[in-house]
Amino acid sequence: MKKVVLDTYEEVCRAVADIYTEQLTKKPDSILGLATGSTPVGLYEELVRRHRAGELDFSKARSFNLDEYYPISKSHPQSYDYFMRENLFDKINIGQYALPNGEAGDPEAECAGYDAAIEAAGGIDLMLLGIGHNGHIGFNEPSVSYSLGTYLVDLTESSLKANSRFFGPDTPQPTRALTMGLGSILNSRRIVLMICGASKAPIAGRLFEGKVHSDVPASFLLLHPDTTIFLDKEANGG
Ligand code: F6R
Repeated sequence: MKKVVLDTYEEVCRAVADIYTEQLTKKPDSILGLATGSTPVGLYEELVRRHRAGELDFSKARSFNLDEYYPISKSHPQSYDYFMRENLFDKINIGQYALPNGEAGDPEAECAGYDAAIEAAGGIDLMLLGIGHNGHIGFNEPSVSYSLGTYLVDLTESSLKANSRFFGPDTPQPTRALTMGLGSILNSRRIVLMICGASKAPIAGRLFEGKVHSDVPASFLLLHPDTTIFLDKEANGG
């Protein structure tokens, strides 16, 4: 696991955007794993900027997102599908994209189909992750048992609280999600984790204790041969 500390969030976004540029130059038909949340917003802005400047072509690339609330409609402004279209897909020329379907009638069949589609595409070349304050990656919550592939998960109080700011009284917050499992994440050939902001310093500290703990799901990344963690100074403890 490689650790890179940069002064600011903007520098982290540019450094991670450089990895995308390198990846898509080397392999234009890359399979990209993508995340939502506040952390990648600046990265997506930088990818859009580079695309508009003619520096990045996504036309042959294909993406699979980590997770989606369940149940939720794709047109719901808090759905991850909506987020991705707003922040990235509607602004670049991505060849094809997929998220777990929050509208699926049969969530188990949806999960199996999602894993099969990732496998048929040849697996994920570059996986982007953020981390929850509770150490989750995707929606793999602190737990004694994790699924290898995509699965339906009950969200913990901590994750519900962290995301409740996005839902109002008229828009009930889903309490479950479809998420790639730790196995799907660890099967990716290369992983980039972004950790930014002072509020993430405590969980970053736990991660860098260097031990795999089931109560810090992100610590399973220690088992992966090509993971780089980018932090801004604040997340690294100031
Ligand atoms: C999002 C996801 C989550 C977030 C994490 C951090 O697709 O899988 O694991 O990466 O909750 O969220 P932010 O960036 O909002 O702090």
